[in-house]
Amino acid sequence: MPETQRATTNNFGIPVASDNESLTAGTQGPILLHDHYLIEKLAQFNRERVPERVVHAKGGGAFGELVVTHDVSRYTKAKLFQPGARTESLVRFSTVAGEQGSPDTWRDPRGFAVKFYTEDGNYDLVGNNTPVFFIKDPIKFPDFIHSQKRLPGSGLRDHNMQWDFWTLRPESAHQVTWLMGDRGIPKTWRHMDGFGSHTYQWVNADGERFWVKYHFKTDQGIEFLTQDEADTLAGNDPDHHRADLYDTIARGEFPSWTLKVQVMPVDEAEGYRFNPFDLTKVWSQKDYPLIEVGKWTLNRNPDNFFAQIEQASFEPSNVVPGIGFSPDKMLLGRVFSYADAHRYRIGANYAQLPVNAPKNQVNSYSQDGAMRYATNSPETPVYAPNSYGGPHADASLAGDEGLWAFDGESVRAGYIEHAEDSDFTQAGTLVREVLSDDERDRLVNNIVGHALGGVSEPVLLRVFDYWKSVDPDLGKRVEIGVREGQSQN
Ligand code: HEM
Repeated sequence: MPETQRATTNNFGIPVASDNESLTAGTQGPILLHDHYLIEKLAQFNRERVPERVVHAKGGGAFGELVVTHDVSRYTKAKLFQPGARTESLVRFSTVAGEQGSPDTWRDPRGFAVKFYTEDGNYDLVGNNTPVFFIKDPIKFPDFIHSQKRLPGSGLRDHNMQWDFWTLRPESAHQVTWLMGDRGIPKTWRHMDGFGSHTYQWVNADGERFWVKYHFKTDQGIEFLTQDEADTLAGNDPDHHRADLYDTIARGEFPSWTLKVQVMPVDEAEGYRFNPFDLTKVWSQKDYPLIEVGKWTLNRNPDNFFAQIEQASFEPSNVVPGIGFSPDKMLLGRVFSYADAHRYRIGANYAQLPVNAPKNQVNSYSQDGAMRYATNSPETPVYAPNSYGGPHADASLAGDEGLWAFDGESVRAGYIEHAEDSDFTQAGTLVREVLSDDERDRLVNNIVGHALGGVSEPVLLRVFDYWKSVDPDLGKRVEIGVREGQSQN
């Protein structure tokens, strides 16, 4: 029978009499409470939304695969990175500060959250389209995000709050330079790079350890939108990036990225000129050149946006044997934060949702909880250790999760500064040595335009100092631009 002729049922498969008229006592009488189908429809509707993500609420995604084209087995034993391996993957791209319905073209970093369904379980690489971040200690994350979102009274976004936070935390300078430059508004999600951003650890088959940084280089080329183009699209086509990805894949044009890594032998970390675990810094590619790993391609749209993208859960705690964490405090904070967010947002058993479930078998001792439906066989013991053949942990994996040595007192302290560390060094290098004249001009215009959006005089004075610390000439141009803009208003 064609789809249109199928009989409607309620949620329990029982055929229903009408999708058009409620059951009433006479044509003018009250609606009857035992019209349980009407009640099911209204009640189900009221429960359609789960809380939006507290950050990265607006996004879109697709499925694809990673194919390993180069041999990096001397650095990691992770199965998904062995030569020739093919691994199914999911990505969700997003903006950070905007809500579910916010325009895709607001200036913001873009989330670049990748899930690999490996034979050793799910590996999630939850990164951004920038290699650095605004802060370097997770204790500041809630305050940072509050400053980028809305004022409590008016519910309005507020540039003063943004610049107040940034200028009081100068370690933000490198990321804010990226944000205010062309990369702050990519043309589409296809036209941006992705970064794991943090330093991770790789462990090879001999137990040797390496620090590693991931780079997804877009094969479409980097392209961006000017502020004016982005503003127009924000009004005319707020879902511009979501639509672009969906339509491109639907046409059979599959965007791809070349996955590369920088690798640092563990014993080089201490003497490196930048602290390699500080998320506000990059590693120079002259010191640690990019090493090619494989091709990552997106080739399948979701069938259902809510089930597969809204309910997707990515968590930096999902690492597989051969991959581990590092002393990057931001990473360690995130390792706690995401699974906690998912339990709140989509429930205790979110790992059983098809998009989140691994493709390999789960042999866990966790049980019960709301919405549990996949269970172990009744013969499987519910505790460990047991003498009845239940699953047992594999002690030989202990070193594979990436370990490192540390000692000392408990302290609340910043990172150890390495020879060339400062909050402004790398931002200044980016401005002077990487950007072209045109890119620098647009950077100045974007900063000036943003700072003119309601930033108070005391904060503005700090804004000028902040940019002069990045680069004296840039700072002067920002100051002149803001003062000229003020005199025209
Ligand atoms: C989403 C926390 C830093 C990338 C989220 C979510 C939380 C969170 C709670 C929402 C998760 C959900 O409801 O599904 C934090 C904390 C951070 C931090 C506590 C710092 C300590 C970062 C950094 C990056 C990043 C440094 C990138 C390098 C993302 C992405 C998403 C996200 C891409 C969206 C994932 C998705 O598409 O579902 N973050 N975050 N976050 N975060 Fe972070």
